[in-house]
Amino acid sequence: MKKQLLAEAKNSMKNAYVPYSKFRVGAALRTKSGEIYTGCNIENAAYPVSCCAERVAIFKAISNGDKEFAEMAVAADTKRPVPPCGSCRQVMSEFFDKSMSIHLTNIHNDIKTVKMEELLPFSFEQADMTDK
Ligand code: THU
Repeated sequence: MKKQLLAEAKNSMKNAYVPYSKFRVGAALRTKSGEIYTGCNIENAAYPVSCCAERVAIFKAISNGDKEFAEMAVAADTKRPVPPCGSCRQVMSEFFDKSMSIHLTNIHNDIKTVKMEELLPFSFEQADMTDK
């Protein structure tokens, strides 16, 4: 499971559209029903419009009607297992259980697995607006 997801994330790096940063990122997201959604970073000449690999995978799943997630893997050519950016952590926290595992890797096969709660502790969530 974990091995396949890591391989899918790494494989998705090849589809990255990165004419500006040249920095390829790949992601793979497994649903509880066993579906796998992949993602790569997609950049734009208007830089802030670019989207990270993690969010592409999550948004593909959500737009396909899937929102029960089991595991995610992210890969990039980094010295250490790639740390997801802050915006992606916030989007992950919207959809992932606090105990969900996220496997971070690099092309050297170093792997760091973290729980959602470790990646973004004390996150702003829906309940903060509703529970008074
Ligand atoms: N990037 C990701 O796709 N995921 C991350 O978590 C870190 C950053 C992308 C965004 C941009 O296309 C490139 O990496 C350099 O920041």
